[in-house]
Amino acid sequence: MALVPGSDAARALFPITQHAAYLDHAAVSPLNVRTAQAVQDWIDARMQHGHPPAFANPDLLPSFRQRVAAFFHAHPDEIAFTRNTSEGLLLVARGLPWREGDNLVTAETEFTANVYPWRNLEAAGVEIRRVPARDGRIDPREIVAAMDERTRLLALSYVEFFTGYRNPIAELAEEAHRRDVLVCVDVIQAAGVLPIDVQAMGIDFMAAGGPKWLMGPLGAGIFYVRRELLDLLDPRAYGWLGTVNPMNFFDYDMPLSPTASRYEHGTLAWPSLVGLMESIALLSEVGVAQIAEYVLALTGRLIEALLERGMQVVTPHARDEERAGIVTFQHPRVPAEQVWERLKAADVHVSVRGPGIRVSPHFYNTWADIERLLAVLDEIGV
Ligand SMILES: Cc1ncc(COP(=O)(O)O)c(C=O)c1O
Repeated sequence: MALVPGSDAARALFPITQHAAYLDHAAVSPLNVRTAQAVQDWIDARMQHGHPPAFANPDLLPSFRQRVAAFFHAHPDEIAFTRNTSEGLLLVARGLPWREGDNLVTAETEFTANVYPWRNLEAAGVEIRRVPARDGRIDPREIVAAMDERTRLLALSYVEFFTGYRNPIAELAEEAHRRDVLVCVDVIQAAGVLPIDVQAMGIDFMAAGGPKWLMGPLGAGIFYVRRELLDLLDPRAYGWLGTVNPMNFFDYDMPLSPTASRYEHGTLAWPSLVGLMESIALLSEVGVAQIAEYVLALTGRLIEALLERGMQVVTPHARDEERAGIVTFQHPRVPAEQVWERLKAADVHVSVRGPGIRVSPHFYNTWADIERLLAVLDEIGV
């Protein structure tokens, strides 16, 4: 039987539910028992046998690539394993054939991980065009208007880390491609809570770290490159794992791997990777479409409850298509740090981001978790 979002069976996988209302998946997920067990099994195997299981099973890594490809509607040859989001974004920043006078278009509200990789290019004469947000929304027409004949890349998050605003990637990618502009998407605030179909959405490059909505351990991430672009995106520096046959230890002239494994340099962070793969198996079992529907309903109800209480909701909420799992709000009078302290004392976990409190439930949270947060707000009053 499928695991139903919000069910007791789903909650039982997350021991943190025994005491906390954990509503902070946009920061980092608590580990679930299956993921923790997969990591533990890996560690136990090494403790008992020395050689890690993957060294004896050459099919393991290909099977992981297949799992990730299916999750994102990609091809296994298009998937590389990284440590985090930044590593993927840096591969794009370094690997594209930039010329002086080129520009890239991005948004003003990006998380710093999606800022510095591009800032590195300024010294080479690449202009960064940052489209402003208005009331949390980034107008797609302004993004399109910022592109011209020297634009090489559109670099956006699918979901913005502070406001929770969801960019219409498919629509923007169509406009970008019409202008020969490539599309690079930071999906860390979306993958695991919103379905992502790289083909249908027209994504050329995609990067995510595992520990947030994908519910994996720290230190493993995913990078996607559309197959047709593998030769355009130069790995610059490559290591032994990025060659066509890494197990050929005595050939020093091996060509690059024809697949996205060319972007993997050396031994992977296996304990984190096996954990992430278990988490992705869990999310697939629940169904990301089901998760999205459930979380959007939960956050929609939360927004209504916050507005009823006189809170200022930062997250654009006129249309469900424009939001995801993040709801950010401000108390009209009490600073965010003080609200956060009160919530923490009640074992309700959220984040402070700038002037706002960011709430981000996942599929095992229930309305009862949200009620715990609302009860603290009621105690504080307006
Ligand atoms: C939009 C976004 N991108 C990236 C990151 C993290 O980057 P990395 O995985 O490189 O640590 C975060 C949060 O920490 C984020 O909110």
